[in-house]
Amino acid sequence: MNTLRLGVNIDHVATLRQARYTGMLGTHNCEPDVVAAALACERAGAHGITVHLRADRRHIQDEDVFQLRKSLKTKLNLEMGNTPEILEIALRILPEDVCLVPENRQEVTTEGGLDVASQFDALVPTARQLKAAGIRISPFIEPDAAQIDASVALGAHAVELHTGAFANTLGEAHQRELARIREAAAYAHERGLQVNAGHGINYTNIVEIRDVPYLAELNIGHTIVSRAIFVGLENAVAELLAAMQRK
Ligand code: PXP
Repeated sequence: MNTLRLGVNIDHVATLRQARYTGMLGTHNCEPDVVAAALACERAGAHGITVHLRADRRHIQDEDVFQLRKSLKTKLNLEMGNTPEILEIALRILPEDVCLVPENRQEVTTEGGLDVASQFDALVPTARQLKAAGIRISPFIEPDAAQIDASVALGAHAVELHTGAFANTLGEAHQRELARIREAAAYAHERGLQVNAGHGINYTNIVEIRDVPYLAELNIGHTIVSRAIFVGLENAVAELLAAMQRK
């Protein structure tokens, strides 16, 4: 099996900064420094950095994405909603990967996968422009065959399977969700897609996720930033990388 790669989502580093310094970026010593955090993750062995530039700019700011683009040694995965404004920024920044996500202003974090099947016509021009610019696209979807088929039709390079329902359930429901993820991973792999996963993965449930067949990349944020409060960011990333090792 290939090594499972880790993309660290550093949105919450920006969440902490914005709690104190909204509107002050560039004029104050705004801490914590998002780029320094990304570089610490890379030093610890992360394979990439993931950020979500939301339309409401509640955490990551445009300037962060431009600075990350200049500074990263690994790769940048930009999560974005399908809006002309963010698309235009993505085409200027040219991240290696774009993860297309649903977005709504009321949500605390991304809830549910992108409904690629029903939003297909609106996604086609976005996907076309991103691909023409050499950017790989990865819709963030529920582990569901219809969404995988629609992602193939969109010309996606990968899908990111939403693991939120798996992470938020216990007992039988949890096992059912894990089975859905396993089936979806196999289905996506058979159709030639790279299989990624993310949302709610932590130091505990990673032991179940790491053995899902065909998984290539995990995007993980909240648990790492939480753990970093106690052990530091580099240690938090290193611990998760160790936990991701398949036995
Ligand atoms: N992948 C996507 C598409 C997300 O929206 C998020 C949350 O921002 C993550 C991964 C990371 O989720 P978590 O912070 O729960 O690890």
